[in-house]
Amino acid sequence: MNNREVQAAWKYHDATKHSYWSIRNSPHVLDWANRPLPFKVYPKVEALPLPRDLTQTGVAALSAISEPGPSVGGDSIPDLQDLVRILHFSAGITKQRKYPGGEIYFRAAACTGALYEIELYVVTGDLKSLNAGVYHFNPTDLSLRLLRKGDFRGNLAQAVGMEPAMTHAPAAVLCTGTYWRNAWKYQARTYRHFGWDNGTLLANLLAVSTASGLPAEIVLGFVDAKVNRLLDLDIRREVCLCLVPIGRTSGSLPPAQREVQALSLETIPVSQREVEYPAMLEMHDRSSLESEEEVAQWRGKQVILPSSAPAGEAVALQRTPEEEQPKDTIEQVILRRGSTRTFDPAASISLAHLSTILDCATRGFPADFLEPPGAQVNDLYLIVHAVQGLKPGSYFYRREQKMLELLKEGTFRAEAQYLGLQQELPADACVDIFFLADLSRILERYGNRGYRAVQLEAGVIGGKMYLATYAQSLGATGLTFFDDDVINFFSPHARHKSAIFLLAIGKPLKGQPR
Ligand SMILES: Cc1cc2nc3c(=O)[nH]c(=O)nc-3n(C[C@H](O)[C@H](O)[C@H](O)COP(=O)(O)O)c2cc1C
Repeated sequence: MNNREVQAAWKYHDATKHSYWSIRNSPHVLDWANRPLPFKVYPKVEALPLPRDLTQTGVAALSAISEPGPSVGGDSIPDLQDLVRILHFSAGITKQRKYPGGEIYFRAAACTGALYEIELYVVTGDLKSLNAGVYHFNPTDLSLRLLRKGDFRGNLAQAVGMEPAMTHAPAAVLCTGTYWRNAWKYQARTYRHFGWDNGTLLANLLAVSTASGLPAEIVLGFVDAKVNRLLDLDIRREVCLCLVPIGRTSGSLPPAQREVQALSLETIPVSQREVEYPAMLEMHDRSSLESEEEVAQWRGKQVILPSSAPAGEAVALQRTPEEEQPKDTIEQVILRRGSTRTFDPAASISLAHLSTILDCATRGFPADFLEPPGAQVNDLYLIVHAVQGLKPGSYFYRREQKMLELLKEGTFRAEAQYLGLQQELPADACVDIFFLADLSRILERYGNRGYRAVQLEAGVIGGKMYLATYAQSLGATGLTFFDDDVINFFSPHARHKSAIFLLAIGKPLKGQPR
């Protein structure tokens, strides 16, 4: 089985590391005339317009982010309003900005390069005001397009090896990644971005589902070929990344599987010319699961990542008392969010701010690869510049104890700037949060699919951090980094780990465009 041959994930990871020299020696330039279209368009399929007068949930963002899901006893079936809320606040257009070469349509979740390579599809049974079918979501005109008529949830239930969240789901959102749309700028590193950008979107999706009283779970174990076929994807260009069953019905059996024919629907080309990066196709192929048995086996094991004993001075998190926390709703916070383009280098945040962000984002989320629930495969390391109540320096976050362990005291703004690809953002932020992972152990447990899991989890936690930051009227931005230098900086503590993700948090410099 391909997935067990984990040198494939190592090969991809090592080949796509950034370093001081890889950036300088790269001949890659952006071909603006060939900039990819940030939307998938089926020109010949009729649009089914969705309601725009959405009811708001009114649920406070901080509580929607931190809850592992709503506690529902009986059936919990989404209606069309719920589905639209979930789709719009995950992948919808939330603002537009003109620039000399055109216009950027910014979306609900942060995405590398604003290239928006993640597409959403809906597979549903009959719902109130929506007939059973396989649909594609188009955020430009807020519509669904029917690709297949009828109930195909049985096909998904089989593809996920009868995972209970899927077998009992009235509907599911499926996320795909379109290689070229992001690779136009980031080349072969895009496969990492699939996890990051899908993850930030899923952080929104999980929070809005919870706020809507609907359970949702990220399902990463599925027979790739079956799901890709159901969506009729051209897999050299676009592949399914995960499934998210939404809601719950008590009916014990999913509908029967249906036959799936090729659709060959016309879509508008993303660019005039596309470049294929074989490293990504190989990474995807080698992390694919081939049968329902393999899926069940893949899912069946617990992830055990032992943590070492604290050695340094430790500071306990200090969250703001519940009654004093900001109550802005999840919808307000998503609409307000927008990555910080310049941080105020003279600003500071409080330990309560940081504690709220860390705690809200790391309480776990429902996902088939996180067993037992609440498990986490990424470790968090921090460079603190300006957090009241914390000495400047580097820290390790002990999640189980909710403690920050001081690794090295000092002012590391210049080092942070270097690690974040020499951008000013990580130097001017109040704190930089680095996600590191013990890839050897993760790949041993999950095979190459673990590489998808670790990137996706980082994106989800990073997305939750974005939301918890903006809920407190602060600013954040995702960043990229020099892989090995990050590990060296946090060593010896981080020895043998790999750099996965980076988020900078601070106060936006007043007057910058939003
Ligand atoms: C994982 C991740 C990495 C990012 N890396 C950078 C970066 O290195 N430099 C930067 O200026 N912005 C970075 N961004 C911010 C994106 O450019 C931003 O999300 C995108 O332009 C969309 O804008 P918005 O977040 O304001 O909606 C990153 C975002 C994410 C999610």
